[in-house]
Amino acid sequence: MHKNIRPIIDPSKPKVYIETYGCQMNVNDSEVILSILQDEGYVLTDNIEEANIILANTCSIRDNAEQRVWGRIDQFRIQKRKRDGVIIGIVGCMAERLKTKLLEGHEVDLVAGPDAYRSLPQLIRDITPNSPQINVLLSHEETYADISPVRMDKNGISAFISIMRGCNNVCSYCVVPYTRGAERSRDPETIVREAQELFDNGYKEVTLLGQNVDSYFWKDAENASKNVNFAQLLEKVAKISPELRVRFSTSHPKDISDEVIYTMAIYENICRHIHLPVQSGSSIMLEKMRRKYNREWYLERVDKIRSVLPDCGITTDVIAGFCGETEQDHQDTLTLMEKVVFDSAFMFAYSERPGTLASKKYPDDITYEEKTRRLNEIIALQGRMSLKSNEKEIGKQLKVLVEGPSKKNPNELCGRASSNKMCVFPSKGEKPGDYCTVEVVSVTSATLLCKRID
Ligand code: 5AD
Ligand code: SF4
Repeated sequence: MHKNIRPIIDPSKPKVYIETYGCQMNVNDSEVILSILQDEGYVLTDNIEEANIILANTCSIRDNAEQRVWGRIDQFRIQKRKRDGVIIGIVGCMAERLKTKLLEGHEVDLVAGPDAYRSLPQLIRDITPNSPQINVLLSHEETYADISPVRMDKNGISAFISIMRGCNNVCSYCVVPYTRGAERSRDPETIVREAQELFDNGYKEVTLLGQNVDSYFWKDAENASKNVNFAQLLEKVAKISPELRVRFSTSHPKDISDEVIYTMAIYENICRHIHLPVQSGSSIMLEKMRRKYNREWYLERVDKIRSVLPDCGITTDVIAGFCGETEQDHQDTLTLMEKVVFDSAFMFAYSERPGTLASKKYPDDITYEEKTRRLNEIIALQGRMSLKSNEKEIGKQLKVLVEGPSKKNPNELCGRASSNKMCVFPSKGEKPGDYCTVEVVSVTSATLLCKRID
């Protein structure tokens, strides 16, 4: 499947430049896009000045993600003025959300939504100066299962594998179900094959990606005993080799099952890390967000994870200042964070997205200043919690997958422990992809500083 693990630059072929915004899923989608274009003779360039096709694979999750892309489109237009025949394409979630609006007066030639990447070569062929091309059809089937992503990661040891697309949850603040469509799971055989081929090509870590991996479900057309749920999929990938680490993201608190937690416990190579977005610590807010769990349910899931996997890293996402959030709701978020002591968190101010349930039902009534104050309190608290969680690691021995030299000191290496915590330690000349055993000596809120014990 991975015939083209690394793109080859050939000066005689049309060159495509791809910028990727947003989530890990988009990173993997860009690799799918590159595979499709490479099969048509295009080659990747990381130099925009020589690109024939400039693509932005975009994100709509918050307004500021879209604003950044509008700024980039202005920059792309400069390339168009400098050289003849340059094509500007906007693909991904913003393409799906804004559709023809992207073509109005912006000199964009190509708009393609997340399910339209197979049509990119034809769309590109059909572009003329006066007829930009657009395909934003969403699909109930497309999983790009047969396409071998062309890996664009730098070190060749860690890769993303999409196991499903879309989302059926309709959290009231979230635009994703509208931009990525209905949930569909990918054939497990193609997932295992992709992971096996990555391993055969020297990769040591795969991350299984989905908007809500816990609702992964493959229904076999003929034989119900061949149906595969997420826990079973995890097991199949983990069995490829104990040397291949398996990660996954994102888990949903309402769906993460005991079976998944117990499967993690059986296989040491399934990394002890769960990204479990809580969004809010207030049951009132969670109800309005349509998360389908409450504070108590979330805390029970955390207790369950920790009782089975005591060393499991738990990370989260938090939204500050959702519609109608009171000071008490905000305090509930802070007390939940203190209770759980997350290892790290992505923290955001609520950004109203057109078309979502929240935008239709609830006024975005927390002022910018108030959202910012609450967000800053959340960020400051998380800094203290990250430090507290890291301090618990002091004295522990950890197995680390080497990523490369540490940024600050070339004589040191960096890599992640199973919990996803970043470790820095003295080099003995290991290469990216080697495993090292280290002991944690001291910590910051972001890093474990370790000594060698192997
Ligand atoms: N405003 C702010 N944050 C959001 N997220 C999703 N939608 C919004 C929004 N409208 C956050 C959630 C989600 C993460 C990927 O982005 O925390 O888990
Ligand atoms: Fe958005 Fe909720 Fe689906 Fe996550 S689970 S992508 S937050 S709708």
